[in-house]
Amino acid sequence: MKKVLAAITTLVMLGSFASCGAVTSPENTGTNTNTPKGDGTKTVGIAMPTKSLERWNRDGEYLKAQFEDAGYKVELKYSDDKTDQQNNDIQSMIADKVDLLLIAAVDGSSLSQTLADAKDAGIAVIAYDRLIMNTDAVSYYVSFDNYTVGKLQGEYVRDALDLDNTSETYNIEFTAGDPADNNAPYFFNGAYDTLKKYIDKGTLKIPSGKTKFEQVATLGWATDTALENMQNTLASYYSDDVQLDVALCSNDSTARGVTQAISSDYKGKNSPIVTGQDGDITNLKNIVDGKQSMTVYKNVNEEASVTLEVSKAVLAGQTPDASLLNSVTVEAAYDTESYNNGVKVVPSYLLVPYVITKDNLDLLVDTGLYKWDANKKYLESTAETT
Ligand code: GAL
Repeated sequence: MKKVLAAITTLVMLGSFASCGAVTSPENTGTNTNTPKGDGTKTVGIAMPTKSLERWNRDGEYLKAQFEDAGYKVELKYSDDKTDQQNNDIQSMIADKVDLLLIAAVDGSSLSQTLADAKDAGIAVIAYDRLIMNTDAVSYYVSFDNYTVGKLQGEYVRDALDLDNTSETYNIEFTAGDPADNNAPYFFNGAYDTLKKYIDKGTLKIPSGKTKFEQVATLGWATDTALENMQNTLASYYSDDVQLDVALCSNDSTARGVTQAISSDYKGKNSPIVTGQDGDITNLKNIVDGKQSMTVYKNVNEEASVTLEVSKAVLAGQTPDASLLNSVTVEAAYDTESYNNGVKVVPSYLLVPYVITKDNLDLLVDTGLYKWDANKKYLESTAETT
């Protein structure tokens, strides 16, 4: 049964993205049109973690489209969520003499040797979305404010249950991300820290007792692992008498598994609050259908456009700083303190995430990346085949 559900998830997810085909970059990318374009001689190597999670397909395609539009050649590789493969992929781009590397790491701590080779070859590296650890070879980090992602999830729960004023007690379980992803603890901590005072007070209870990131992490952010973990939690700690009120999930791929576990294995009559992140198409459908409560949205097209501006500056031999943000229309902060990778504090450009619920789905339509379906019931991607 579990395998069937997992297979269905994969099919639904791949189907929803495959039907989008390749992506043309929407008009409103936030990119500075005054910056000189590349002259077609420079190549940017882009290493994405996996095609099996919806967002990286979008990131890869948006990045490729924006860099090509700006006059750069692009070498784009996906590493099937495998560390060795990503090291090999990056080595092959170094051998191809790319001029710049953009990397969303599978495992942020396993690229040190490969990036030392990139540095020796004079190739600058930008960490994309996920910080790369234990290396001095990474020049910049472009991402969202990851801690705020979790904080927004926690605040949503606080407000939905009116935790500051209620005399009720509620049961919550956490599902976090991949321990190899430097972002994952930020998401978890942002949510946990926000809810801690209610946990300490006893307004929120965690029947499983799983309060630590390591206890609730989900290898590879995999939907079927999250499904299995939640099935086990429900079987062990929940019964007709013990109601699950909140499933705090760090992102949409894990939320899909948790939602399935609730549909198939949860005996309670209530609909637990389920959080997420990314605005994956299946999850947006679940939000409309009341199976998921919210998702934290990160506009990856804007992430791509800030990355493009940083890349252009680096490729032109400049040292971008806060002033680079004057050349983009995207809301972002320049941070030279928060992201220490163990060797150096990596200067970071951090974009701003926001909450999407069934009541403000039009905000996604406003991005130009989503549109309503014919019945104006569900959202679909606006991506077109090029
Ligand atoms: C994180 C990323 C999230 C989520 C997750 C799983 O690094 O920031 O948006 O997609 O990976 O892919």
